[in-house]
Amino acid sequence: MVSFKSILTLAVAATTASAFPSPKLPGCGEVDIIFTGLPPYHPLVAQQGFNSSAVDAGLRADAADIIKAGYNLRVVLMGPEQDISVLVNQTNGIRWDGTGVGYGVRGSRREDLTIRLGDIIQVFHERAPRAPTVFDYSFTTALWAIQTKFPLSSNCTNSPGKDLV
Ligand SMILES: *[C@@H]1O[C@H](CO)[C@@H](O)[C@H](O)[C@H]1NC(C)=O
Ligand SMILES: *[C@@H]1O[C@H](CO)[C@@H](O)[C@H](O)[C@H]1NC(C)=O
Ligand SMILES: *[C@@H]1O[C@H](CO)[C@@H](O)[C@H](O)[C@H]1NC(C)=O
Repeated sequence: MVSFKSILTLAVAATTASAFPSPKLPGCGEVDIIFTGLPPYHPLVAQQGFNSSAVDAGLRADAADIIKAGYNLRVVLMGPEQDISVLVNQTNGIRWDGTGVGYGVRGSRREDLTIRLGDIIQVFHERAPRAPTVFDYSFTTALWAIQTKFPLSSNCTNSPGKDLV
């Protein structure tokens, strides 16, 4: 049986679909991402049980893969002892499409890193209000986090993104 409510829902969905056609996916080098996290050799990385040299290798490989996949990327690695204005400064000059926070900060059970996570989210909210914030679940899954939220329209093997140092 088709209820009145489901007919109404379908009608509303159809209207919405025509009023807002699905946007075209961005192409290679069209998405600017700023991603922040702890430096691999920061003491709080080892204190949370991670192997710093493995984190270092993982972060480097993940960042290289993100650029190869067609995204423009700026990485800001900083500990909670550094003033949050360091991150604010790094947001300057580019209209960011997406922002991200690494698992060392996001997954931490520490007070200082939880406070820092809130400060990072606040900076991203103020400096890039329309940019979605993505989260990874390990030190090698930032590409996954970015691709999930920002799929690109084509294979970018022959036109990688830029390293926004
Ligand atoms: C840490 O990672 C490095 C590089 O992956 C590896 O060679 C080393 O054995 C690891 N150390 C420990 C204690 O697991
Ligand atoms: C941020 O940029 C401002 C203006 O350029 C500068 O005065 C300040 O020292 C910078 N802060 C940090 C933490 O880099
Ligand atoms: C993209 O293209 C390259 C080379 O043409 C190919 O090796 C690779 O598998 C492709 N990647 C995807 C995700 O289709």
